[in-house]
Amino acid sequence: MSQRKRILTGIKPTDLPHLGNYFGAIKPMIEHSLDKSSEVLLMCADWHGLTDKKNILQPSKYTLPSLATYVALGFNLSNNALFCQSSVPQIMENSWYLSCVSGVGLLERAHAYKDAVANGKEPTCGLFYYPILMASDILTFDTDIVPVGKDQAQHIEFASDMAKSFHAAVGKKCYVEPKAKINTDTPLLVGIDGERKMGKSYNNHIPLFASKKEIEKRVKEIKTDSKGLDDPKNPASSPIFQIFQSFASPEAQKHMFEKMTNGVGYGYGHAKKDFLDEFENVFGVQREKYEYYVNNSEELWKMLEPSLNKVTEIATTVTKRAREALGLPINQVKAFVL
Ligand code: TRP
Repeated sequence: MSQRKRILTGIKPTDLPHLGNYFGAIKPMIEHSLDKSSEVLLMCADWHGLTDKKNILQPSKYTLPSLATYVALGFNLSNNALFCQSSVPQIMENSWYLSCVSGVGLLERAHAYKDAVANGKEPTCGLFYYPILMASDILTFDTDIVPVGKDQAQHIEFASDMAKSFHAAVGKKCYVEPKAKINTDTPLLVGIDGERKMGKSYNNHIPLFASKKEIEKRVKEIKTDSKGLDDPKNPASSPIFQIFQSFASPEAQKHMFEKMTNGVGYGYGHAKKDFLDEFENVFGVQREKYEYYVNNSEELWKMLEPSLNKVTEIATTVTKRAREALGLPINQVKAFVL
């Protein structure tokens, strides 16, 4: 048995990835996947993406790009897993068991649900049920650690509470109680407006894999102040430099930092040109890979097959345990005959 801690997280496929996602979520998960001391299960949460009724067809558009993004950027598939939530029906089964031990009052306290409804989302049963499905994502794979942003902390607490309620109801342990790892180290990345955090909803984002032309257009729009060509500029308060830091190599950062601080003969136009060159250095090759996988999806799915086998095996073991704890038949389920 492996002693490696199992880390699981989910990403909702509801948009194309941008630099803010890269910095806050994608890059840290890729780094975890390269660290041999842990095992990473990265799930594309397409079922969760269905909870916005007006945009229910979004996951069908963005699942492939979202998986291709991680593979193109170097997620280490050996010893880890990258998979699609809807490929593992055991998640749905466990979510039912968890729902049968969870009070409606618990879900009524969910901040994310209250916020979504306050922001005009239709309060469907699916939206209300979201935390149970998420708890099941976590518990179906014997997850030790769930790295998430602060906004998701309550959902992880719910997952622990639901595991405890289940254990109390059946009189024995079945699921692993997970721990949250709240990401407080990564500061939020500012958008090109220099004011709010980078996000598609503010339209102040820089897409990761758009055409060169489109990236150039966005970079030109990054907000600057009125300092002239030869004036010293403060990198720390300049959105160009702040965004640059999220992806540029240390040498490239040092170069821009010194040029800006010194100022002479280095205007914001120069900084934007350096920005674009480095963006191409860092993401150019990956963009080609990304496009290749999006256009050759069969090949991508094939690469992900070992991942699916691995997570299916874990999910089946855990689900059998849950059935056993509940006294439900196990041998009658064809899907369990591996
Ligand atoms: N709810 C998470 C979000 O909106 C996505 C998610 C789905 C998730 N399932 C998960 C995160 C399981 C961690 C673990 O960001």
